[in-house]
Amino acid sequence: MQEYSGPDEDLVALLKRDILDTSPGVTWGEIAGLHEAKRVLEEATVLPLIMPDFFRGIRRPVRGVLMFGPPGTGKTLLAKAVATEAHTSFFHVSSATLASKYRGESERMVRCLFDMARAYAPSIIFIDEIDALCTTRGATGEHEASRRVKSELLMQIDGCFGHDVEPGQHVMVLAATNFPWDIDEALRRRLEKRIYIPLPELEARKELMRINFKEVEVAADVEWEELARQMESYSGDDITNVCRDAAFNGMRRRTAGKTLEQIRNMRAAAVQTPVLMDDLVQALARISPSVSKADIAKHEAWKSEFGSV
Ligand SMILES: Nc1ncnc2c1ncn2[C@@H]1O[C@H](COP(=O)(O)OP(=O)(O)O)[C@@H](O)[C@H]1O
Ligand SMILES: [Mg+2]
Repeated sequence: MQEYSGPDEDLVALLKRDILDTSPGVTWGEIAGLHEAKRVLEEATVLPLIMPDFFRGIRRPVRGVLMFGPPGTGKTLLAKAVATEAHTSFFHVSSATLASKYRGESERMVRCLFDMARAYAPSIIFIDEIDALCTTRGATGEHEASRRVKSELLMQIDGCFGHDVEPGQHVMVLAATNFPWDIDEALRRRLEKRIYIPLPELEARKELMRINFKEVEVAADVEWEELARQMESYSGDDITNVCRDAAFNGMRRRTAGKTLEQIRNMRAAAVQTPVLMDDLVQALARISPSVSKADIAKHEAWKSEFGSV
């Protein structure tokens, strides 16, 4: 990758350090379910790079992709997998960063970000929690600043799609949000593909447990099907928390009533016991689903109005 140094050296250095994510290392295989989302993301991000000549004219690559859905369903994870699988330069920026970290410099930062992305093209700019850029909470001054950042962003997205962009050398925006209804029409229009990332289905819930216990011994009495059924309406993040809690439970049993000194003298092997069905049942009782039915309904309504898959 060639070195880029723009007119704004300090900002370039900052962006490189904070944002240019060269290898997050997440693969499609570590993400349970979401087959349709993976397919669409692949079509929008990976294929245009492999066969740039096909993606011309009416088949031009999309300018932007929005992933929306309740929290903890794998949106950030999917973006990281795109970074790994697409072999592009990948800029990972949260909109909280854009909006606040470099107060007063936000527009300059957006410009610099896109400038760098073009220099390193093909690139993907991932803006996580993009809703934070659009909401208008806080003082009027803040509101004005966020309006300016947003119009700079719109301008930059449009600028990435002139006629002079070489096939295979494009810059694409990938965005994620838990609050799609906060995104206004102008920005929504540029995020042409809008993919719903729902709560995991039964099969995905089983797969998630398998992924989580990949490196942990599990007792033969664990009834995966039964657990997966009981975790209906749990998000991927909730399920991961249940698994983590269950995985600690054996250690808790082994160390109960012992002093720290005694525990220190125990061998790792003595603390390690396979995860039992009972550990999982207890964890399940402790951890409730974090997403409300009302939230799901809101997402589904937005999907039927604005979703694109
Ligand atoms: N489909 C999934 N496959 C594997 N892990 C998942 C999945 N969905 C959620 N997780 C777990 O939940 C955590 C949070 O997911 P994240 O991608 O940050 O959610 P979001 O960005 O949608 O709020 C992940 O680090 C992972 O442990
Ligand atoms: Mg996220």
